[in-house]
Amino acid sequence: MDNRPLGVFDSGLGGLTGVKELRRLLPGEDIVYFGDTGRVPYGSRGRDTILQYARQDIAFLLSKNVKYIMAACGTVSSTYPAAEAAKLPVPYLGVVSTAAREAAVATRSRKVGVIGTAATIRSGSYETLLRQLVPGVEIVKRACPMFVPLVENGYFNDGNPVAKLVIEEYLTPVRAAGVDTLILGCTHYPLLKSMIGAFMGPDVALIDPGKAAADALKSMLEDKGLLAQRSEGRAAFYVSDSVDTFAASADVFLGPYRGGSVEQVAIDQF
Ligand code: DGL
Repeated sequence: MDNRPLGVFDSGLGGLTGVKELRRLLPGEDIVYFGDTGRVPYGSRGRDTILQYARQDIAFLLSKNVKYIMAACGTVSSTYPAAEAAKLPVPYLGVVSTAAREAAVATRSRKVGVIGTAATIRSGSYETLLRQLVPGVEIVKRACPMFVPLVENGYFNDGNPVAKLVIEEYLTPVRAAGVDTLILGCTHYPLLKSMIGAFMGPDVALIDPGKAAADALKSMLEDKGLLAQRSEGRAAFYVSDSVDTFAASADVFLGPYRGGSVEQVAIDQF
């Protein structure tokens, strides 16, 4: 039993899709969430900047005495080295390995699509893992940089004409390649899931990285005897930009699970 909070972070608010899953699966856990809303996006930045930001985000969560760190960000998960994560004082989980494993189980044709930010696609993180997990896999990858601003600006309701156009533009070659599984390799993309699903067709399995990681985290906490013992956990949210921006968008990502205090943090001091 361990009643310390889970630490979750993202470049912005997309990681709240992971928090939503965690709160559904593990209602007794306290969660400390950090969203780097003042420095989002990470996905268009170079490796060194992403690493520096990720280290500061992790240092902040450690200062909150968390028992586990989940990087609910495809870009950080693709960039932060496993060797460095292994040296942290608490266990660390990114979203890439669990989503890749779920895709490996889902694919029948061994044709897997991967979409994500420019940094995620450039890193080859999903490719490396999928090649280990699925011998002979064919990977069709595509950076979709306009998906994040679409989601951040609320352009994701079913049938939204702008989102529809951008989805067609990015995913036409992925669909034409005949993938049967598509990894939504960025924590913002699950908000577009229904429109992406409508475009890709019912035979394509869509993998949600935040959900896959939350499922895995639950199993790990159970296996290691680290579950909290209380019936209702609390959430505390921290952001690096004004808390008003968080309040305006959090509902979209958290759904009915919103709640908890919101504070601004000077993240560059970590
Ligand atoms: N959270 C990022 C990810 O999952 C997307 C937003 C960004 O580019 O920072 O890759």
